Parts: sequence; structure tokens; C-alpha cells
Amino acid sequence: MCGIVGYIGPKNSVDIIVSGLHRLEYRGYDSAGIALCQGRDEKLLVIKTPGKISDLETAIRAAFAGKEARNYTLGIGHTRWATHGAPTRENAHPHVSRNGQFAIVHNGIIENYAELKARLIKKGFVFASETDSEVIAHLIEECYVGDLRGAVAAAIEKLEGAYGIAVISSKHPDTLVAVRKGSPIVVGICDGETIVASDVSAIVNYTKRVIFLNDGDILTATADSVEIASIKNVPVTREMTHIDWDIRDIEKGGYAHFMLKEIHEQPATIANALRGRLIESEGTAKLSGMLMGPSDMARIDRVSIAACGTSYHAGMVGKYLFEDFASIPSEVQQAAEFRDRNPIIQRDTCLIAISQSGETADTLAAVREGHQKGAVVMGICNVVGSTIAREAGRGVYLHAGPEIGVASTKAFTSQVTVLTMMAIALARTRRLSVNAGREMIQQLAKLPGIAEQVIAQESVIIKIAEKYADMRDCFYIGRGYMYPAALEGALKLKEISYIHAEGYHASELKHGPIALLEKTVPVIALVPNVPGKIKTMGNMQECKARHSPVIAIATEGDRDIESLSEDIIRIPPCPEFLAPIPAVIAEQLLAYHIARLRGCSIDQPRNLAKSVTVE
Ligand code: AGP
Ligand code: GLU
Repeated sequence: MCGIVGYIGPKNSVDIIVSGLHRLEYRGYDSAGIALCQGRDEKLLVIKTPGKISDLETAIRAAFAGKEARNYTLGIGHTRWATHGAPTRENAHPHVSRNGQFAIVHNGIIENYAELKARLIKKGFVFASETDSEVIAHLIEECYVGDLRGAVAAAIEKLEGAYGIAVISSKHPDTLVAVRKGSPIVVGICDGETIVASDVSAIVNYTKRVIFLNDGDILTATADSVEIASIKNVPVTREMTHIDWDIRDIEKGGYAHFMLKEIHEQPATIANALRGRLIESEGTAKLSGMLMGPSDMARIDRVSIAACGTSYHAGMVGKYLFEDFASIPSEVQQAAEFRDRNPIIQRDTCLIAISQSGETADTLAAVREGHQKGAVVMGICNVVGSTIAREAGRGVYLHAGPEIGVASTKAFTSQVTVLTMMAIALARTRRLSVNAGREMIQQLAKLPGIAEQVIAQESVIIKIAEKYADMRDCFYIGRGYMYPAALEGALKLKEISYIHAEGYHASELKHGPIALLEKTVPVIALVPNVPGKIKTMGNMQECKARHSPVIAIATEGDRDIESLSEDIIRIPPCPEFLAPIPAVIAEQLLAYHIARLRGCSIDQPRNLAKSVTVE
């Protein structure tokens, strides 16, 4: 999820690696490091720090102070976005093998690292970090019999998960190895030198000729040669790509805004949230960060959810999930409300604090109050090692990668995905059977594909955005699981387009807001083929009778709603408990394109901060 740069050639790799890492800073990270080859069988030089690349540069200067200037012609560097282990120096990459002869940097998640680590420890390997990545360095040492590429191939055959890896070794001062499975690696082809990186932006200053590795490819590079082969060492040919992007565009992966990039990332980020956590055979989910076994979960007799903004809307879905599947009485409230109203916490109440940034002051205050009242406190955060994650003491990370756009998008869908897994795990300690649990797990596993199908509707959504970009007021309505989705859609639109958008429970319109309806006030109705649809169609009828144009977000193929709708955005069929995710992705795209057409500052909307660290 974060940044890799590697170099082999006649120049000083330090300068090339550090400037490449700077190019990757926009992706968000929490620590950085570099490893340099000092010559055959010489100790690898590793310099790494938590914090910014400027901190790493300070550490590099200190390490070289008083030393004779020289060219380190082989090196690797990394900016880390922590998933396993807080952002500390020990957890920063590169990681070095026990014998110090191999150094690696890794992007992604090794799902089976715990069992690999346990086996290696039994064999006498000593670990210096809490990360999943460190197992890779020790596995390469374990598999090494004289051939670096072969050792890397043998090591990665033992890995499960997603990875982009670069490797150097003091046994091979003329060789740089890199491998890709699920996390990008791109090779810069230059004359007499080779650069690898996780992102073209770190390379494009040196060469516009690049090769993108495919999953399963292993690169073996020297200064003058580039060989790509499969794990079984079958040579493969990958075409050269000529980069003609502008550097700024590259940082957004070719997207006009980070928000659009993050909307499009959601099939992958939902897959990351699910990765290694679905146990279909037992019809449940494994969320080890909850630090709870089934007997602990069975004791929870109430759930209280505290969050703000988009995270609050995810929490509303969580309430429905816990009550519908685990029959646990649940409440959700704005974090400030929780803290200020002297909450009633009983012995087996579980407080769940949801926060993408993990730094929202109101939510942090709720965590502290929950501890004070003796609740079991759980955090659902995206930023590993964030204050809320640390102070909650237990919980589940989203693994969504840095969310840079101020308007939260991929965090919401990952939060709901995690809450769904939590509800299934809790429900399996109650009345949810293994078969019913399996069915839910199988449905959950389809989420990345469902997200993909909604994103494929973007051209239809753009046309609808063009029709309504000049509106001044609008309503979003929904009921059941679609009610939090309606609130989220309204928040998305208002915060990036500055249109006055209000979300309402569909049943509520007739209790007042309907007075505002007229032909200039569109209504976005969330009306997929789930329970409550018929009643919401009645509300659509009320809107139509007041001449408000209705934009329906409805299930593919559903004809019932057509006569009531001016425009329709189609989402794939799915059970009600999953429907907020495709519905909200459709709303994200609608909000994005309306804001784009209005020329708004989408990634940094006026008056907003990415993390509200004041109460
Ligand atoms: C959502 O688009 C907003 N940026 C905002 O409501 C945000 O969700 C809220 O501030 C909570 O942030 P958190 O998830 O980092 O705690
Ligand atoms: N999972 C690894 C870690 O937590 C790599 C994270 C990343 O992709 O930066 O260190």
C-alpha cells in the first residue's frame, strides 16, 4: 500500500532512492528507511526512522557524517503505511534476515505471517519487529543455497497474501531482485542502470521506458540486464510502456482527483478488508484484533457505537447488523453525544469507536469515557498506531491504505465491511447457524465484484450529474439499511459540491420536509430490491406528485420503479445487509461528478479538514 524504490547502477543509489521516496510521499506513510549494499559479504547498511522522509534524510546524514564519500551502487528504500505493528523504527522497513545478508522492503499484507513466524522462531530465527513483512527476509535466508533469485522464489511460494517486494543481498552486490503479487512493481529501463518502484512517479524523472510486472513475475536486474521470469524460473516477456503522463497526474494514478482514485480503489480496498478474515468452513470471520474468543463475544449484551460524520453513518449500518444477526441491542450516537450525555454502560457493554483517521477528538473522548465507565472498548480505524487505535486497545484495522481526499469514500465501505464481519462473528456465538453463516460469508466475498459493477455505471452517473449539477437543494431518502446510506449520500454531496443536500428517513418526508418539494428540488431515492422498497416507492410517488424529479438508485432490471423515476442509477442485486455499499458507491460517484462539473475543490473542500482533532 505504500512506497518501494530500488536501484542498481553506477550512481549513488542513496540520492536516487530518497528522491524517489519523496515522489511517493503523497500516498501517505508513517515511516521510511533505506538499505545499502557496502560490497560483497560486507554488512548491509540499514537506516530507518518513524516519521517523514526528512527524518530519514537527517538519519542518513548522521550515519555518513565523518565517513569517506562513496557510491552505494545497490540499494532499496521504503515508505511504510503500517498494517501490522505501530509506526516505530523497529517496524519500519527495510527488514534484514537473521544472518544480516538479505534485506527486503514490502508493500501489502502477508496473511499467513503468524504461522510462518512461529515456525521460524522455533528454528532459531530472531525477530526484531511486529510486522508481517519481516518473515520474508528470514524465509529468503532459510531458502538460500547460493542463488538469490531462487531463494526469493522459494520464499514467496510459502507466502499467502498480497505483496510487492524488493530484495538486496551482500552475497550478490550486483543484483537487485523484485517480485509482484497484488501490489504493483514497475521497472525503469535505463542505459547501464535499473530502477524499480511501486509507482511510476518515482521513476519517471530517470526514464519514461518502464515495464509493469504482472502478478507472479520475479525480476532479476543488474546494471546492464533485466530478466523477468515466473516463480518456476520460466522466462516471460513483458512489453515496454512509454510514460507520457505529467508527474502530478501520476501521483493520482492518472485520476483527476484523489477522491476519484479512492472511489475506484474500493473493489481492492474491500478485498483488503476481507483478506484472510473470512472462515467459510466455520461460517464466520476471524478478527484477531478484537482480542476476543467466542466465549468473550457471547458475553457482550449491548453494543454502543460512537463516531462522527461518515464513520457515524457506517456505525448506523453496524447497529442494524448487530441487531439483525446477533440480536444484540445496539445504539449509535455521535461521539460527542456519547461522551457528553453520561452514557449508561453495563458490565458487558461493548463500545465500538469508528474513525478512519483514528485522531478525531470527539471519538477519542468517547473512547476515554468508555474506558472510564468500564466498557469493553473496540476501535475500527484505518491508520495503524493512531491514537484511537492505541487507546481503544483492541479492534480491527481497515487496511484501506491512506485516504487522502477529505471526503471519506473507501473508508466507509471498508468500515461497513468490517462491521459486517464483526456482526457475523458475534452472531455465530448466538443463533446464527454454520450454514447461515457460510451463506453470509459467501455473499460478503462477492462485495469487491459488486463494487466493480457499480463503478462500471460511471458513464450513466456522469450523464445524470450533468442534468442536476445546477440544483441548489435536494433530498436523499431511504429506509432500513438505506437510511444511513441516504444520510451518507447527502453528506458526500454537500461537503464537496456545496449544494444543500439533506438525508431523511423516507417515512419522514411527509412529516414536514415535503413542504420544500417542488420541481427545482430533486429527490434521490434509495430503493433497491430489498424490504421496504414498496413503501419507499410510495414516498417517491409523494415526491412526484409535488413535481420533484426523482433519481432512483435501484436494482438492475427492476421495472417497478421506472414510472416513478426521472432518472435511474442501477446497482447489482444483493441482500439488504450488503446494499449500503453499492448504493453509497453510486452516491459517491454522483457527488464527485456534480462537484467536478461545478468546478469545486474536490480533494480539499472549503472549511473542511481530513481529521477534526478539536472537539
Ligand atoms: C466525511 O466525508 C468527512 N470527511 C467527515 O465527516 C469524517 O467522516 C469525520 O470527520 C470523521 O472522521 P474519522 O472517520 O477520521 O473519525
Ligand atoms: N504490511 C506491512 C507492514 O505493516 C507493509 C505495509 C505497507 O504496505 O506499507 O509493515
